[in-house]
Amino acid sequence: MSERLAIEGGTPVRTVPFPARIQIDEREIEAVLGLMRKVAAEGGAFDRYGGTEVDSYEREFAAHFGTAFATATSSGTAAIHTALGALRLDIGCEIISAPITDPGAVAPILWCNCIPIFADVDPETFNLDPQSVERCISDRTRAIIVCHLAGQPADMDPIMEIAREHNLVVIEDCAQAHEAEYKGRKVGSIGHLAAFSLMSGKHSTSGGQGGMVLTNDEELYWNAKRFADRGKPFNSPIETNLFLGMNYRMTELQAVIGRVQLQKLPAIVEKRRAVVEMIRERIQDLEAIRLGRVIEDVKPSYWFLFLRVHPEKLRVPKEQVAAALQAEGLPVAASYAWVIPDMYWIRERKTYGESRCPWSCPYYGKEVRYDGQLPNAHLAREQHMTLAIHECYTEQECDDIARALRKVERAYLK
Ligand SMILES: Cc1ncc(COP(=O)(O)O)c(C=O)c1O
Repeated sequence: MSERLAIEGGTPVRTVPFPARIQIDEREIEAVLGLMRKVAAEGGAFDRYGGTEVDSYEREFAAHFGTAFATATSSGTAAIHTALGALRLDIGCEIISAPITDPGAVAPILWCNCIPIFADVDPETFNLDPQSVERCISDRTRAIIVCHLAGQPADMDPIMEIAREHNLVVIEDCAQAHEAEYKGRKVGSIGHLAAFSLMSGKHSTSGGQGGMVLTNDEELYWNAKRFADRGKPFNSPIETNLFLGMNYRMTELQAVIGRVQLQKLPAIVEKRRAVVEMIRERIQDLEAIRLGRVIEDVKPSYWFLFLRVHPEKLRVPKEQVAAALQAEGLPVAASYAWVIPDMYWIRERKTYGESRCPWSCPYYGKEVRYDGQLPNAHLAREQHMTLAIHECYTEQECDDIARALRKVERAYLK
């Protein structure tokens, strides 16, 4: 006899809330106050040209991730836009994108008046399938934005090989994967450019919002720096601004917090790995709910966890399993986000007024259809739930997660 589920009136496994993620301590508080006191006593300002904190943060970030250059930005979306802006793309270029990612990784493609082309994924990892990437390449393709979703590194070797063959730029989207490793290398140091989000809730934050663009290519670096500051003529003999850009500059206040957070990052990621291993050990015997697949020779930096559900082994749909787990007190969601081309704003081409640009742009002159594609992206969504985890979980939380997963599986197993 299985235990009575909480969703059917039984006692929940977990009656106290999961611990809050405490992301800052006295070190960040002191760093902010220290900067405030310095500016109050000596003058200076909080924008990046009023001090040296952003410069230091960029140097430290690049050194930490193993690249030559970094450009700080105001958000992860701004970082993706800056990475694309550094490429000086013509209107109507095609940019290959992951289909399951944050809209902030796709909107910048459209702001560049370029066309997102969504490649399909490995249904077990949610990350780009290199073969599908290759099938998406046309004579218009200029770049591939590779998302390392949920902290799982995408399979970079074949993607870099395809990019080399077709002369494409690879931008790694590391928003959800700070410190993850692919074959011994930190993600963010493998592609031609990388973009990080430093929003609160990410592994490390520059205090609310922030982003970083990494590269080893000096010309791309100068272009990124120029783009993020309205096209300013950095490293140029021309005296006035060089091209259309944005003001995406990070502030000194963001940078002081980010610098402390960067020091804490390795320990945060290690603790998350330990939490995931504790959960993995405890649910090894389950048949219908497992942890999402991790590819060979990588070290993920878990942002949240994918739970793989085997619907053929269960009497109820995944949505009911998720509802039952929520009733047991678990921070579970039935599915992760959306397949981007299914979202209203992309489906209805809600971009520049009612123009449907850039899809309708005469400079592009092609028709793109997104419907009926991406079977594996849909399959990935159908087969996985998500579980929120973070570094403040203890053995108790892992015990409760395992107990609830076991209890619900037992009740619904065929
Ligand atoms: C994969 C991915 N890319 C880009 C972004 C955009 O970052 P931001 O919210 O800092 O603009 C996010 C945000 O969560 C993300 O998860």
